[in-house]
Amino acid sequence: MPIDLKDKRKTGGTISERKSIADRKNILDRAAVTRDKVSSLSQMPLSTRNSAASNIASVRSSVNLGDYEYLKKQILGITKVDLNAYKEAQMKRRIDQLITKKGLKDYPSYINLLKTDREALEEFLNHFTINVSEFYRNPDQWEFMDKTVIPLLIQRFGKNLKIWSAACSTGDEPYSLVMALSKYIPIQQVRIYATDIDKTILAKAKRGIYDEKSLAGVPKEFRDKYFRKLTGKDMDAVEVIGESDPVAALKTAYAVSDEIKSRVTFRQANLLEAKDYPKDYHMIVCRNVLIYFTEEAKDEVFRRFHDTLLHEGILFIGSTEQITGYQDMHYGRKNSFFYERLD
Ligand SMILES: C[S@@+](CC[C@H](N)C(=O)[O-])C[C@H]1O[C@@H](n2cnc3c(N)ncnc32)[C@H](O)[C@@H]1O
Repeated sequence: MPIDLKDKRKTGGTISERKSIADRKNILDRAAVTRDKVSSLSQMPLSTRNSAASNIASVRSSVNLGDYEYLKKQILGITKVDLNAYKEAQMKRRIDQLITKKGLKDYPSYINLLKTDREALEEFLNHFTINVSEFYRNPDQWEFMDKTVIPLLIQRFGKNLKIWSAACSTGDEPYSLVMALSKYIPIQQVRIYATDIDKTILAKAKRGIYDEKSLAGVPKEFRDKYFRKLTGKDMDAVEVIGESDPVAALKTAYAVSDEIKSRVTFRQANLLEAKDYPKDYHMIVCRNVLIYFTEEAKDEVFRRFHDTLLHEGILFIGSTEQITGYQDMHYGRKNSFFYERLD
């Protein structure tokens, strides 16, 4: 992902930092699952359950900024983001941290700020989910994509493939797709539709400047062919992506080639909005975002993906995001991260 020294989280950080983010996420996910399993909660309707879980979360949290239900309603009105679809304990903690860091004492003051300050609003949208990404993330899964899935897609649908990278973050994933497909299809024929809810991150994706850490998984042949090490002449390019120390950033910065960039069309789209789903796709790649969603929201997304895919189209998801009840939704399972539309 692009370098952004102001926020190491967004660069992916060091391997140990990334691991600790992943560990923390796992712990939070497990906590959310445990919470969901509390039978008294799971018997309740969704809104009551969320409110009860919110109370539990605020008791656990050291700060009490007010009524989370109020915050969710206001955020929906201002941003169209429905926080009910995101796992609550994790999301509330992230938002509370942001508000506390800004020196605000409660939700109403924060909402007032969001209503009047465009920058604060952008900051909220940037903060409420994690943008960590990297090229060829989980290389063994990309190997399966390379050796099995792409040949299968070509056999089924030919070479004019319609592929959607949903929640694409900084572009590492759609650009990896272009490279992987270019082994089988003339690159001028490759087209990827890439979307994310976060406009700022899409702007970074379009610029296509990355720290070398996020290139670690790129096969050498592609690295040599499609990436250029930035030099002193590229200072403007690094400055424009908001580096706090552009000189240091430049030393490890790479630009992805226009040949790759030109194959991807980026658009803002919200996975929680039915109208943002395209039609008749051969493959959807949507990884490492559904882990933030509640089970209900995740199911809804999987059903919409099913409608987006053509018969025998493939869905590639994150390794911790299995589709429970995939048979009922008319998916076939190729392994824990690749599924196909059956009907
Ligand atoms: C951790 S990144 C995943 C990036 C990439 N898919 C990968 O696996 O490396 C999660 C992305 O999901 C996006 N996101 C969160 N909620 C979303 C929503 N409701 N609709 C679309 N994108 C969303 C975030 O902005 C973020 O860029």
